[in-house]
Amino acid sequence: MDEAFQVSAGSGATALVSLEHVNKHFGDLHVLNDINMTVKRGEVVVVIGPSGSGKSTLCRAINRLESIDDGNITIDGEELPAEGKSLAHLRADVGMVFQSFNLFAHKTILENVTLGPIKVRKLSKSQAREEGMELLKRVGVDNQAEKYPAQLSGGQQQRVAIARSLAMHPKVMLFDEPTSALDPEMINEVLDVMTDLAKEGMTMIVVTHEMGFARKAANRVVFMADGRIEEENTPEEFFTNAQSPRAKDFLSKILTH
Ligand SMILES: Nc1ncnc2c1ncn2[C@@H]1O[C@H](COP(=O)(O)OP(=O)(O)OP(=O)(O)O)[C@@H](O)[C@H]1O
Ligand SMILES: [Mg+2]
Repeated sequence: MDEAFQVSAGSGATALVSLEHVNKHFGDLHVLNDINMTVKRGEVVVVIGPSGSGKSTLCRAINRLESIDDGNITIDGEELPAEGKSLAHLRADVGMVFQSFNLFAHKTILENVTLGPIKVRKLSKSQAREEGMELLKRVGVDNQAEKYPAQLSGGQQQRVAIARSLAMHPKVMLFDEPTSALDPEMINEVLDVMTDLAKEGMTMIVVTHEMGFARKAANRVVFMADGRIEEENTPEEFFTNAQSPRAKDFLSKILTH
């Protein structure tokens, strides 16, 4: 693997992402209720749970797109900065891929991937293009580099979105239902890219109901309900032997689809 793509090794600490007693309300709604969670370097955690349980809010809080009321979130031992330059830095450490592809519509595929490295990582244009092309190749869309997002399929766009995040050399990647807006035939091409990333040692937090991915790539499944972590286990144990009534109920619903 090209060294530019390796997860930055960092220093000894094993917890790359740590949440301690994190609480958040939206008005009366306790959307994150005393969340405690640690994600180790190289670990892949799948977050699963019913609609409205707080999964997206959790991701957004880790990336500081959403503030928290109290508690502590650290990335690689550093607390989340409130704003300003250090926040931009943190955002670069935490890559995020959303359900909607969020590419810049008026920029080419390659420009989408080189913009951040040029602006934030201060790469030269030619360095950024070289790295960008390698990343596009890695996700299988290098032949689309000069096109615009609207000319690509949803699956291709989502793979570009992953490449764009990777171009910032993040320490951890967050995925919030990255395949749920895709036509069924495109889901696997995106999951395959994510599975490869996981195998290469990327630290990942993935909100998804794709159990095949969870089984193949996740070290741990975290089940959320009503803003709480109800249960967590290995994928095998969770899917075959869930303990809490909420988890059993949820699984019975998604398994019968
Ligand atoms: N900006 C906001 N203002 C007020 N309420 C919000 C806001 N964002 C989310 N909520 C509420 O917080 C709760 C958790 O939302 P969140 O999007 O985190 O759930 P989720 O688990 O990601 O659900 P889904 O599976 O549908 O994506 C929901 O009840 C939602 O309506
Ligand atoms: Mg959500």
